[in-house]
Amino acid sequence: SKLSVRDALGSQNTSGERVKVQGWIRSIRSQKEVLFLHVNDGSSLESLQIVADASFDSRELTFGSSVEVQGQLVKSLSKKQNVELKAEKIEVIGNCDAKAFPIKYKERHPLEFLRQYPHLRCRTNVLGSILRVRSEATAAIHSFFKDRGFVHIHTPVITSNDCEGAGELFQVEPSGKTKIPKENFFNVPAFLTVSGQLHLEVMSGAFTQVFTFGPTFRAENSQSRRHLAEFYMVEAEISFVENLHDLMQVMEDLFKATTMSVLSNCPEDVELCHKFIAPGHKDRLEHMLKNNFLIISYTEAIEILRKASHSFTFTPKWGVDLQTEHEKYLVKHCGDIPVFVTNYPLALKPFYMRDNEDGPQHTVAAVDLLVPVVGELFGGSLREERYHILEQRLARSGLTEAYQWYLDLRRFGSVPHGGFGMGFERYLQCILGVDNIKDVIPFPRFTHSCLL
Ligand code: 4AD
Ligand code: MG
Repeated sequence: SKLSVRDALGSQNTSGERVKVQGWIRSIRSQKEVLFLHVNDGSSLESLQIVADASFDSRELTFGSSVEVQGQLVKSLSKKQNVELKAEKIEVIGNCDAKAFPIKYKERHPLEFLRQYPHLRCRTNVLGSILRVRSEATAAIHSFFKDRGFVHIHTPVITSNDCEGAGELFQVEPSGKTKIPKENFFNVPAFLTVSGQLHLEVMSGAFTQVFTFGPTFRAENSQSRRHLAEFYMVEAEISFVENLHDLMQVMEDLFKATTMSVLSNCPEDVELCHKFIAPGHKDRLEHMLKNNFLIISYTEAIEILRKASHSFTFTPKWGVDLQTEHEKYLVKHCGDIPVFVTNYPLALKPFYMRDNEDGPQHTVAAVDLLVPVVGELFGGSLREERYHILEQRLARSGLTEAYQWYLDLRRFGSVPHGGFGMGFERYLQCILGVDNIKDVIPFPRFTHSCLL
C-alpha cells in the first residue's frame, strides 16, 4: 500500500509490511555494505530513512531528486527513528542536478537567501515547517469560530469601497484584450479589497456573529518587515456587543486558542522554527500564553512614550499615530506581554468607528493589539451604530452618497456591534519569531516584487 512519510513514520506495523513511499531525497549516505537515504514528502518535518544494500545503482540517487521506494517497513536499530524502509525497489521519477540546484545538501541557507527562490524554498526544512504551521493555524482559526457558532462569510475580493479610507487601493480593470471598455466593466471604479469589514457588518446584521479569512490588498509603499501588498486577514464582526472588553476577550481567546492548537498539532515544526530562527522565542511565546493580555488607553500610551522620548527617532504627542518603534517599545514596557491600546483620537481613525463623545481630546472606541516581534497585530473597534452620528461623519468625509447602503444598516434594525481584523502573516511572525513577513507567506508580493 502507498503511505505518506508521516504515516510510514507513525506506523505501528513494523513487522515487514510491504509499502510504497514517494518523495524527494533529502540526504544520501553510502557505506560499504549499505546505502542510507532520507526521503521527505512534506507530510512531516521528519524524513523516512531508506536502507538499501550497496548493490543499488546510486548514481541517479542525488539530493533533490524525486523517487518512489518500495520495500518493507521494519523497526529501526537507530535511536533517531522508530521505523525505516528496507528498500526492494527504488525508482527515480525525476532526477535533480544537485550541482545546479540552488538548495545545497547539508547547508543551512539563510531565509534571506531562500527568498530568491519562492519556487524551491518550500523544499527546505525551515520553509516546510513554517508553511505546515500556516496550514495548521488556518484550520485552527476556522474551528475556533465554528466552535463559537460564528458563520463563515466569503466577502468579495473585488469591491467598490475603500473601507479604511486610506486610499491605498489597487484598481481592477480588464486587460486591453476584452471587448468591454475598461471604464465600463463594472460601471464604477473597482478595487481589490483592503478589508472585508463593511461586508461583514452587513452579515452581522443577519447572522449576529460572522467571520471571514481571506486575502486583502494594500498599495502601501512600504518595504518594511511587516507589510505586504497581499496579505491574509482574519476578520470577525459581532452584533449586540456593547463594550470593547467583550471584543478584546474574543481577540485574546482567538490568539491563545489558535496558538495552543498549533503547538499541540505540530510541535516539531514550531520547535524547528524557534531553534533555527529565534532561539529563546519558545519562552517568550509561553510567557504570552500564560499571562492575561494588558490594556492601556492611547492617552496612557502617549504618556509612557513621552517619558522615553530619547529612545525614538520621532517622539509622539497626543493626536499622532504610533509608529512601529513606539509599538515595540510599549510591548517591551509591558514585560513582553501583548497589550491592547484603546480609545484612539477620532481624527486618526476611519469613519466607521464609534464616537466616544468625550470632549476636547475626542476619541473613538478603537482597539489595537500590540505584540512582540511585529507591534500591531489586531485592529478593531465598536462601530458607529447611531444613524445621525454616522450620517454626520460620512458627510464630513464626503462619503454620504457612496455609503447609503451602509446608512441603511442603521435605519433597519441597527444594533451596537463591533469587530476586528488580525493580520495572519503577522500572527505567524509573532508565534514563530520570524523577523520578516516575506518568510511566512508562500509567495510574497510587495513593492517592486511579484515573483512567479
Ligand atoms: O488595522 P487594519 O487596517 O484594520 C482593518 O482593516 C479593519 N477594517 C479590520 C476590522 O476591523 N475588520 O488591519 C488589520 C490588521 C493589522 O492590525 C495588521 O496586523 C494587518 O491587518 N495588516 C497588514 N499585514 C500585512 N501587510 C499589510 N500591508 C498590512 N496592513 C494591515
Ligand atoms: Mg490598524
